[in-house]
Amino acid sequence: MRVAKALKQSINTRNLAESGLVSSKQCGIHPHLDKTVQRHLQSTWAQPFHKPTLEAFHQLKLEGVFAADVPFILDSGCGTGNSTHWLAEKFPRHIVIGADRSSARLAKSGVSSSFYRHANLVLIRAELATLWRLMLNDGHLPEKHFLLYPNPCPKPGHLLRRWHAHPVFPQLLSLGGEIEMRCNWEVYALEFARAVSFATGARVSTKKIQPDTGMTPFERKYLEREQALYAVTVPTKITQAFRLSLAGG
Ligand SMILES: C[S@@+](CC[C@H](N)C(=O)[O-])C[C@H]1O[C@@H](n2cnc3c(N)ncnc32)[C@H](O)[C@@H]1O
Repeated sequence: MRVAKALKQSINTRNLAESGLVSSKQCGIHPHLDKTVQRHLQSTWAQPFHKPTLEAFHQLKLEGVFAADVPFILDSGCGTGNSTHWLAEKFPRHIVIGADRSSARLAKSGVSSSFYRHANLVLIRAELATLWRLMLNDGHLPEKHFLLYPNPCPKPGHLLRRWHAHPVFPQLLSLGGEIEMRCNWEVYALEFARAVSFATGARVSTKKIQPDTGMTPFERKYLEREQALYAVTVPTKITQAFRLSLAGG
């Protein structure tokens, strides 16, 4: 009987995982979110840089990706780079940089090295918390920054792994541009909006979205399964004001 119950539970868990629906014990905004963001705002995160990302960043500079007169768009956690291709077509006057730490995902776009460039599209293998800090320190600021379907890290104990509760969050906001975060877990979207509002003092909210076609493989999967999708957009003027307020101490 116990075996049958365990089997049923494991099948249910597998079905849920396969559906792509986020399952969590957490039903609303994490009770420690505000104090976590507050703590990060009071100190600058100084974890040593991830060495391979440092090298990838130097290559970006050597290859002239940050030419002064060409604005760029960042697609962070681009996975296979599908959305990066899509954005590069949509914004032909911009350089579009897709970054992901997974060589297996990037390889699905035929990218076999840590740096790939074709016309205005650039794909790099990089760890985001290092890449964002390096860009910010050097003053290379994106015009738009997409965070499409970040890993939700739904266990309540994994709050600090979510980008809005990660120690790099103040630098992510400072890096700025117009930030667009999309996800399929409402709690993540609510928390992201709450953390931005808490840090900047500006009112930012979550909206439900219904894109016609999926911009990324994850978005396509969720649309096919008729799941609810959420987005949080942070306008440039908010990220800019936040950066200036941090610089001014
Ligand atoms: C759920 S997938 C979404 C991929 C893609 N944006 C999409 O929507 O199809 C999350 C992606 O973020 C990447 N990722 C997560 N944490 C990262 C980190 N710290 N640095 C770089 N990439 C990271 C993972 O490798 C993965 O490809």
